[in-house]
Amino acid sequence: MKMQRVAVIGAGAMGSGIAQVLSQAGIEVLLKDVREEYVQKALSAVKRMYDSRVKKEVLTEAEAEYLFGMIKPTTTYDGFDDVDLVIEAAVEQIGIKAKIFEELDKICPPHAILATNTSALSISEIASYTKRPDRVIGIHFFNPAQTMKLVEVIPGLRTSSETSTACVELCRELQKIPVEVKECPGFLVNRLLFPYMNEALYVLQEGTATASEIDKAVETFGLPMGPFALFDMTGIDVCHHVNEFLYRQYGPRFKPAELLALLVEKEYLGQKSGAGFYAHASGQPSRKDEPKDLNPQLLPLLDQIRKTSPTARSPKPFSVYRVILPMFNEAIYAIQEHVVEVKDVDVAMQWGCGMSKGLLSIVNEKGLQWCLNELESYHAIYGERFRPSWLLTKMVKAGMRDFSYMEPMPASVR
Ligand SMILES: NC(=O)c1ccc[n+]([C@@H]2O[C@H](COP(=O)([O-])OP(=O)(O)OC[C@H]3O[C@@H](n4cnc5c(N)ncnc54)[C@H](O)[C@@H]3O)[C@@H](O)[C@H]2O)c1
Repeated sequence: MKMQRVAVIGAGAMGSGIAQVLSQAGIEVLLKDVREEYVQKALSAVKRMYDSRVKKEVLTEAEAEYLFGMIKPTTTYDGFDDVDLVIEAAVEQIGIKAKIFEELDKICPPHAILATNTSALSISEIASYTKRPDRVIGIHFFNPAQTMKLVEVIPGLRTSSETSTACVELCRELQKIPVEVKECPGFLVNRLLFPYMNEALYVLQEGTATASEIDKAVETFGLPMGPFALFDMTGIDVCHHVNEFLYRQYGPRFKPAELLALLVEKEYLGQKSGAGFYAHASGQPSRKDEPKDLNPQLLPLLDQIRKTSPTARSPKPFSVYRVILPMFNEAIYAIQEHVVEVKDVDVAMQWGCGMSKGLLSIVNEKGLQWCLNELESYHAIYGERFRPSWLLTKMVKAGMRDFSYMEPMPASVR
């Protein structure tokens, strides 16, 4: 199904980026928000991007004007009776999304697909507010949508395969890299990232390594930034919220370290508040190669946590695999649950998190037996956070050395 006309609901950070991506592909976009000034602000941002492309001679003035003209701002549902797809990117509240989907279901033509860009709400629940659950789906763009290549395409329980295929095809047309992920809390990328970020907090709380040492080790390992720089950039309150949500959904494997809640309580929220794990006096992110100053209040807070809730301490010196292993393990849990295909894990982590090497390619290099041994040794000290998935245990018992036994790895990640 070719998408000729698409509507985007919500002209905030995500909606404006998604509208821009659609317009770049020459697709007509209706961009709707609740107030005219919000849509105009989004349009100005898109215009600046097109102007800069003209300046860099990527586009001619006429081309930029034509593509920019593809976006029609609106605060009403006029024209929604003629769209093939709606991508909802309004605020992350189920009540608001429920109302939007009820309205869309009445106004949009019967063939139209209704997609949500939700980060964490249930696609199946959102679909239940319509009479077309087979045509409701998650299309999860990453921030900033203009530049991030990965899109998670998330069918709900009642989404048809035709709907999924149409959305995957659209993402390819938009020059994105779609990965189909079965609906689960955190979808794939956040589900894998958060156990790793959480473990970094535990290492810090224990005093086995400092924030800068952990960040540096992770960068050397092949992620574009370390967990503490990422906490500060994303917002510690946002991460705390996601961490607690995943804990409620998955249980003890995701038990949050205490530090995040304490930082939120003290209003150290990261770059946006001027301090998080690091000090951000200018409110600007430091460049990757610039030395970062630690938030001077971090050490007293760590002392407080060590007194009130002492944690087990590993006799092993810090190794980057301590924080990476929970991510490996969670990937294998996701494969075990058929949330994702083996071939898509590396693609998602490379394009969604900027990993220089595929996650499972690293597992394959180290060998499944090594992963299991390491997980078991940490499990003996720290408990549930490191409980190996039964698929990993079963594969090792079956004599499988790596994931190539399960499914051929695509050439791009071998
Ligand atoms: N920001 C991120 O990093 C990110 C990444 C992936 C997904 N998401 C998800 O994308 C969605 C949007 O996030 P955002 O960061 O762009 O939020 P945002 O706050 O920047 O923008 C939301 C916009 O929606 C508008 N809005 C609210 N109710 C509306 C309604 N009934 N009709 C039309 N517009 C309405 C608001 O006025 C606002 O302009 C959320 O579901 C969020 O979870 C966010």
